[in-house]
Amino acid sequence: MTRSKLSQAYPLGSRLDEDGRLELGGCDAVELAREFGTPAYIVVEDDLRARAQTFVEAFKARTKDFDVLFASKAFPCTAVYRVLAQEGIACDVASGGELALALRGGFDPARIYMHGNAKSVEELRFARETGVGHIVIDNADEIERLEQVVGGDEPQPVLLRVTPDVSGATHAAISTGQADSKFGFSMIDAPDAIARVSNSEQLQLVGLHVHIGSQILELEPFRRAIEAIAPLGDFPVYNLGGGLGVAYTAEQEPPRISDYVAAKVDTVADVLGPGKRILDEPGRALVANSTVTLYTVQSVKRNVSTWVAVDGGMSDNLRPMLYGAVYEAQIADRFPLSGTGGGTPSRLTGKHCESGDVIVRDVELADPRVGDVVVTPATGAYGHALANNYNGVPRPPVIFVSQGDARVVVRRETYDDLAARDVDDGDD
Ligand code: LLP
Repeated sequence: MTRSKLSQAYPLGSRLDEDGRLELGGCDAVELAREFGTPAYIVVEDDLRARAQTFVEAFKARTKDFDVLFASKAFPCTAVYRVLAQEGIACDVASGGELALALRGGFDPARIYMHGNAKSVEELRFARETGVGHIVIDNADEIERLEQVVGGDEPQPVLLRVTPDVSGATHAAISTGQADSKFGFSMIDAPDAIARVSNSEQLQLVGLHVHIGSQILELEPFRRAIEAIAPLGDFPVYNLGGGLGVAYTAEQEPPRISDYVAAKVDTVADVLGPGKRILDEPGRALVANSTVTLYTVQSVKRNVSTWVAVDGGMSDNLRPMLYGAVYEAQIADRFPLSGTGGGTPSRLTGKHCESGDVIVRDVELADPRVGDVVVTPATGAYGHALANNYNGVPRPPVIFVSQGDARVVVRRETYDDLAARDVDDGDD
């Protein structure tokens, strides 16, 4: 019998050897767990680079004037910024902190776009001081705030975010295009805002921005969003947001990057006219499948269910709890033979003090035992980004692997880190 094939949720170039052991970027997964400890995020660097190149090539094949922006909220880690900057990608930041990291990662500030529905004066000043190319205006209060920050200096190029009243089928918490959204100007308010910004001496309006939501697995909503904003006028630049869904499990079949790009670019040409500069902001689709998380089994308990508890959980992957997100999981050195199913029906659970801290609710694991290394693929997007210290658990390291080499790019937190911001009140 042969080993099962790895699902498309795993990083490009991952493989199983004859014994059913997982290899990532040319490194044995269990060896990585031994060397760097668990939990750990393992990023296959070549996967990151390949997906960035696929986006750029897909645009190049259809239009001359475009830029692909990394929506960096998905994986705000200096080394990831650095790789994507090297691949010629531009950057979307949603806060002063992401801006600081993007600059540290080597992004040219002129190719940074600053987002946010509640940007502070400090964040706007920081963007101006560092020469951020474009600021995406979200609301009327921000128009005045930014005008004041600009004052008598050079005008600031801006885009205006509009909410097209179009949404895709996704979890409510990550749907943004509906009329009743906290993001952007409604279709009713947009004309006044466009007029207001067009007449501003401090702001230079270059175009519109629209982002309808995240983890969208069909292309039609992206087309409808572009059609919806057409009546708002003719602009040289359109930022079409991100939102392309990815495969978290073998069953999910997201559109191909080239089809997603074709749908957006062709709709712009058809509906908005030729010669537009098109910006796109993938987050998840650039980084999710580049990464897996490795855990070690700490206990296997059988009551009504079989509870396989590992050394991480909601502190390194909040997505199951926040969105009911479903992941795959396998024992990293005992992938099942094809046709045999996975083995023991299990609940893969975290170490945190909440019953809801379940990483995968229904998963078949191959005879799980204490000490086994468990792998969950597709944790590159919003894994590290949403990591936290609940229960005083130090956040995991980020390890890059490439062609058989592994290196730490973010070290594991320590107990000292947990107290690093304490202010000594001089008791001793
Ligand atoms: N552009 C804007 C303005 C956005 O707000 C977002 C995501 C993106 C681009 C990138 O979307 P993506 O290509 O990654 O779908 N924490 C949630 C996702 C929140 C998305 C927020 N905005 C999750 O883990 O599913």
